[in-house]
Amino acid sequence: MELLVFPLVLLAHFALSLDNGLMRTPPMGWLAWERFRCNIDCATDPKDCISESLFMDMADRLAEDGWKELGYEYVNIDDCWAAKKRDSQGRLVPDPDRFPSGIKALAQYVHSKGLKLGIYADLGKYTCGGYPGTTVDKVELDARTFASWGVDMLKLDGCYSNSSDKAVGYPLMSKALNATGRPIAFSCSWPAYEGGLPPRVNYTLLGEICNLWRNYYDISDSWESVQSIINWYGKHQDVLQPAAGPGRWNDPDMLIIGDFGLSIEESKSQMALWAILAAPLFMSNDLRTISRSEVEILQNKLLIKISQDPLGIQGRMIMQEKNSIQVWMRVLSSSTMAFAFFSQRTDMPYRYTTSLIQLNVTAPKVFSAQDVYTGRVQHGLQLDTKFTVTINPSGVVMLYVYPEDQFKPNRRPRDYPLLL
Ligand code: GLA
Repeated sequence: MELLVFPLVLLAHFALSLDNGLMRTPPMGWLAWERFRCNIDCATDPKDCISESLFMDMADRLAEDGWKELGYEYVNIDDCWAAKKRDSQGRLVPDPDRFPSGIKALAQYVHSKGLKLGIYADLGKYTCGGYPGTTVDKVELDARTFASWGVDMLKLDGCYSNSSDKAVGYPLMSKALNATGRPIAFSCSWPAYEGGLPPRVNYTLLGEICNLWRNYYDISDSWESVQSIINWYGKHQDVLQPAAGPGRWNDPDMLIIGDFGLSIEESKSQMALWAILAAPLFMSNDLRTISRSEVEILQNKLLIKISQDPLGIQGRMIMQEKNSIQVWMRVLSSSTMAFAFFSQRTDMPYRYTTSLIQLNVTAPKVFSAQDVYTGRVQHGLQLDTKFTVTINPSGVVMLYVYPEDQFKPNRRPRDYPLLL
């Protein structure tokens, strides 16, 4: 008996991230907020209001339109789901008109489709939208309520509380979720409320108590918003990049591909950069009406393989050229890597010439490079072979680069890894 217990104790002691075992690769799914906000007007807008039928619709789409197989498994509720008052026992309850079956039934529905359900709360007096908040004294009760409903993930926002409440409340919620015995992934908005940087933010602690965390401002439906997020992550990468790893992720916020603010080039850029950043891939869009070209971006298999690389190392911006071109790189498993050549130019396609050695690759090998969006493969790249990528304005060229010698001789390199 003692022999069995001993290694478990050791493991628990040395765990470097929240040891609920969840989210070893960046989580994927759907989250209501950016697209559907706090639309509670079900009388005039029944299809698009925050209600159980909206989440059931999205669960249906995730399960039936090829999303689930690719890893998009969470269906996540955001703000404005609750009734304006707690019940007589102090528990949070859903709005009875918009969630007449209750959250437990919704969780069962989502689970029956092979998906997971996420919910939203706010450490503070009110949620950001003015619904009942989770003050420190309510943390344990709310954790138990969510577990009793069969919820799989909690996003804990931070409106209407001060820094000392947050310093107590976030670690307490982490413990309370673990104490329920139900695996519930924990998304913390805490750092976003403290400016996202040390000394006010302690990323070591966050990695111990949260599976993911928002660092920066909310995304909105515009290219400016996406650009400002990418540039902030690039600027502060020395702090942010080492904080991420299996089970603990920086969250630059939702994917807005499929909404109204991004062109196709911009959508490709958001997807590529989010994969390089090892970011959670939570779409906030309308999966009932999304167009084919946007689905293709979000369902790109090679991109998702890059996002979900098992090493879980966040990528870095390795070059920032004066002409508004950035080069980003993510180190992947099996001596492979991904590059994103990203343009914030507004004139015409830009021809960027480089070589692997200029991109800091040093392994003395011959590589192939596959363009993630076109599928085209270039073979025989030596470290000093020059190659040129043509990057559209606001667009990206993303390459998956792999050594040719890692493949068995009877398998021609060009048979692999064409996943498109
Ligand atoms: C904050 C969060 C958003 C969203 C809203 C809900 O602004 O950062 O992601 O959850 O609150 O009111």
